[in-house]
Amino acid sequence: MRGEEQTFRLSVFPVSYIFRNFAGVKKDNFYFKLLNNMVNYKDLGLVNTREMFKRAVAGGYAIPAFNFNTMEQMQAIVQAAVETKSPVIMQVSKGARNYANATILRYMAEGAVAYAKELGCEHPEIVLHLDHGDTFELCKDCIDMGFSSVMIDGSHLPYEENVALAKKVVEYAHQFDVTVEAELGVLAGVEDEVSAAESHYTKPEEVIDFATRTGCDSLAISIGTSHGAHKFTPEQCTLVNGVLVPPPLAFDILAEIEKKLPGFPIVLHGSSSVPMDEVNTINKFGGKLEAAIGIPEEQLRKASKSAVCKINIDSDSRLAMTAAIRQHLAEHPGDFDPRQYLKPARENMKKMYIHKIVNVLGSDGKLAE
Ligand code: G3H
Ligand code: 13P
Ligand code: ZN
Repeated sequence: MRGEEQTFRLSVFPVSYIFRNFAGVKKDNFYFKLLNNMVNYKDLGLVNTREMFKRAVAGGYAIPAFNFNTMEQMQAIVQAAVETKSPVIMQVSKGARNYANATILRYMAEGAVAYAKELGCEHPEIVLHLDHGDTFELCKDCIDMGFSSVMIDGSHLPYEENVALAKKVVEYAHQFDVTVEAELGVLAGVEDEVSAAESHYTKPEEVIDFATRTGCDSLAISIGTSHGAHKFTPEQCTLVNGVLVPPPLAFDILAEIEKKLPGFPIVLHGSSSVPMDEVNTINKFGGKLEAAIGIPEEQLRKASKSAVCKINIDSDSRLAMTAAIRQHLAEHPGDFDPRQYLKPARENMKKMYIHKIVNVLGSDGKLAE
């Protein structure tokens, strides 16, 4: 090391060290954030889930939580939310974060707020949420990078470990006014990288203890939904007028949970409906999606009227995007500019998001006054 460089490093090191480690420095102190490359979601124009959930529970509707990985998904979500005047949760899984890059996501979220304003929404309510966070470190990293809400998913852990992990995340998150979703009960299918072959419904007798001891702001429960486009086998369904109808969600368990935790925000994962027209388009234009079955929208409409105030939808967006791309490329085999097929894909996703907001969840027109 050259002499000059050495002097510079030696003189800077103790200052940054003191700022990073001095116990009296508040975590939202400007210099603390700067030196640790941190950003608070409020500086990005985002909001947490607290107020929107309170209004959704009281008003009998649910806030859409749409997963995104790409710019086109983000644009479609923002356009749909602005056009319907709906609050919206844009959520990112660990896999999506690895795909898109954590730094880029922070700017995409900031861009989403600015874009909503540009589209004419003066006060957008956009949440950037970590979906299925599996460690304290991942949740902390997201909070430090501008997320306004995180999920810590310890649902596969033994009960006491789930409580301890969720509590640790809540203690960190609440210092920055970031809200935390935790989960009790296991969904069937694949929960991010956590595989659960069978679902274990949430035990209503555990929810008071869990919510009280963890201090979580919302609770994801298992009442029969599951992730992906294959939520039920045809054998589990009943054939009604040529259509396979899956078994209903466990509304009795939901009612018991509501009785134990009146007014507490409840979250439903795995809530895509897997629209048959999208599946048919995919299959018509070269895809091979067999026995894809989702949650009937009627069931989600009913859930939205209860304490369920956040409904997670990812697979329906994937289907809408893939169907439009397949159809476009099949009908325009000479096209090779991504804008030519991503534009109809974005339009199709937007149409689906608007449909969910207006006809299923009922969050249209529900921005804060
Ligand atoms: O619940 C899982 C979400 O659909 C995210 O899926 O991990 O493939 O991004 P992903
Ligand atoms: P779907 O696979 O049903 O869209 O569920 C998404 C989800 O729960 C994301 O956390
Ligand atoms: Zn999920």
